[in-house]
Amino acid sequence: MSQTLRNDRFLRALRREPVDCTPVWLMRQAGRYLPEYRATRAKAGSFMAMATNPELACEVTLQPLERFELDAAILFSDILTIPDAMGLGLHFVDGEGPKFERPVRDAAAIAKLGVPDMETELRYVMDAVRVIRRELDGRVPLIGFSGSPWTLACYMVEGGGSKDFARIKAMAHNDPEALHALLEVNTRSVIAYLAAQRAAGAQALQVFDTWGGVLSPAMYREFSLPYLERIARELERGEGTERTPLIVFGKGNAAYLGELAGIGAEGVGVDWLIDLGDAARVTGGRVALQGNLDPTTLYGSPDAIRREVRRALDSYRDGNGGSREGHVFNLGHGMSPGMDPEHVRVLVDEVHAYSRR
Ligand code: CP3
Repeated sequence: MSQTLRNDRFLRALRREPVDCTPVWLMRQAGRYLPEYRATRAKAGSFMAMATNPELACEVTLQPLERFELDAAILFSDILTIPDAMGLGLHFVDGEGPKFERPVRDAAAIAKLGVPDMETELRYVMDAVRVIRRELDGRVPLIGFSGSPWTLACYMVEGGGSKDFARIKAMAHNDPEALHALLEVNTRSVIAYLAAQRAAGAQALQVFDTWGGVLSPAMYREFSLPYLERIARELERGEGTERTPLIVFGKGNAAYLGELAGIGAEGVGVDWLIDLGDAARVTGGRVALQGNLDPTTLYGSPDAIRREVRRALDSYRDGNGGSREGHVFNLGHGMSPGMDPEHVRVLVDEVHAYSRR
């Protein structure tokens, strides 16, 4: 497991160490925009058939790395594996996204939930991590991930995606104790899940707080931020250059970057609604920053993509005292199915070429 990494730019950037150029990976880099992904998915039959088969999960994890000079791989899985293992019955409805057969809507249902066993109920995830590490063979580091307690709770209470998060917000107002009990079991599960992925070979970890930004500031500070902090503080990750870095990504987290820089995570993922230079000024070198190109930039022409890549790189450098250190280039959120793979190549190559100068 301790084979030497041939490309450790991503881990160096998370430690805010000097790099030859800015590392880049893309959230949802393995996905439907790639024809080879669609072929593997057709062969598997469904998303979950692919995610629960370690060889197929490995195959799709590596697909974007075969095409582009990406500096990290991310485990192919989903954040909803934890609630599925808790017994909520995950399934995907075509065109509608994820759904749960048995959502949790009251204190009684929440009281029945327990932390899943990582090496039995979620063994397929750990097996995928082990197979991917073996097949990566030290090319680039492997990122493991989880949803945040709040973001998982959104799907568990709503029963799927939501536009207004009416059910979970009603619970926050009417039965905050029940919601805190749910966030508590989710937090213990996320910590166990990330620890197990680390033990299986994940070399960095990311928590997706995709829906933190739908909360008012007071509610964010009650229902999301403290649980993110507990994960960052309680998750055992080692010391020094051996330490497994943790990145906390949040959509709509611009107002909280100063606080997020102090929770104990090594990296903070930023969406595209804030200038990266301003984000760097607010966080003041306390963490590495990951981001933050508007994903829809990939619908632009190659020239537009190069221009926006340069703008983000320069903005970070200006806000970071003239240095590119501590920046992991990424989108501000995930890729979409309609994006052109050739535009991804333009993005990745421009990040490296421009930041190398
Ligand atoms: O980044 C990567 O390449 C790794 C894989 C990854 C997936 N989901 C694969 C996936 C990661 C990191 C996730 C996380 C995830 N899943 C999040 C948090 C990040 C984010 O994007 O906000 C959320 C909210 C989910 C829940 C989820 N799973 C949604 C909303 C969907 C889309 C449903 C749809 O039909 O569009 C999924 C399914 C899913 N997860 C797909 C992929 C590639 C598409 C499923 C398919 O191939 O049919």
